[in-house]
Amino acid sequence: MEVVKQISELKKVLKPLRGHSKSVSLVPTMGALHQGHIHLVKQARHESDLVVVSIFVNPIQFNNPSDLAQYPRTLSADLKLLEDAGVDLVFVPENSEMYPSEVQVAFRFGALEEVLEGAFRPGHFNGVAIVVSKLFHIIQPDLAYFGQKDLQQVSVIRRLVKDLQFDLQVRVVPTVRETDGLALSSRNLRLSPEQRLQALSLYKCLESAKSELLKGNAWFDTKKQLEGGFDHSKELRLEYLELVDLDDFRPAEKRKPELKQGICIAAYVGEVRLIDNIILD
Ligand code: PAF
Repeated sequence: MEVVKQISELKKVLKPLRGHSKSVSLVPTMGALHQGHIHLVKQARHESDLVVVSIFVNPIQFNNPSDLAQYPRTLSADLKLLEDAGVDLVFVPENSEMYPSEVQVAFRFGALEEVLEGAFRPGHFNGVAIVVSKLFHIIQPDLAYFGQKDLQQVSVIRRLVKDLQFDLQVRVVPTVRETDGLALSSRNLRLSPEQRLQALSLYKCLESAKSELLKGNAWFDTKKQLEGGFDHSKELRLEYLELVDLDDFRPAEKRKPELKQGICIAAYVGEVRLIDNIILD
């Protein structure tokens, strides 16, 4: 496994391989890797000749400086996991390599960025779109892998690929959960054992919401009842719980079996902001 820090170096390694018609996949990450990331890598390994993983804590997608400062960084453990998973190339750029000057271009995603994560984290999707576009330009992958846990991000990426006609396929890999249901997330590393238990409320809430909807109960009542279950204390603070239509992420008022819908949640457990979602089949 080769680890490169510079764009020029990365391009030099990739060029001859592309000449031999090798298919290239990219798994973009911010490090602090867990089995969720490894699932993405394994699928990429299965579907392409060359697997590239990027590890870059992208400063411009954080709207909260303390979230950026406290984002877990575990590079040597990450590299070990990637080596064991059979990755070919890891791109670990410094900030100055990705942002030699302040970025002036900006992306707008219309209604998609005005709700849920877009509303609670202003500028977040612009930052994601900029870094992902840069990675696509630099690496020119045939396939790019993202986790379903960041469901709204997946829609943003699909829009980006469509509007800018990137010549690649987006693959979405289901959320990996602990046996008790907690979605794997790099931010879980910041939870104390008690907070880890409280964090389970997100998944439990999604499961209850789904089961109430599938029983035919109204979303308005279900949401109200479940929101009441959060104590809104400092330790477990619900930010949103929404039923959404997956084509535009607009909050929906009721279950529409003819549409693809999902339930999305964001909550703070102490200082740690977690998100999760569940798709209604
Ligand atoms: O999902 C993430 O980890 C990040 O948003 C991504 C896609 C690597 C861009 O920084």
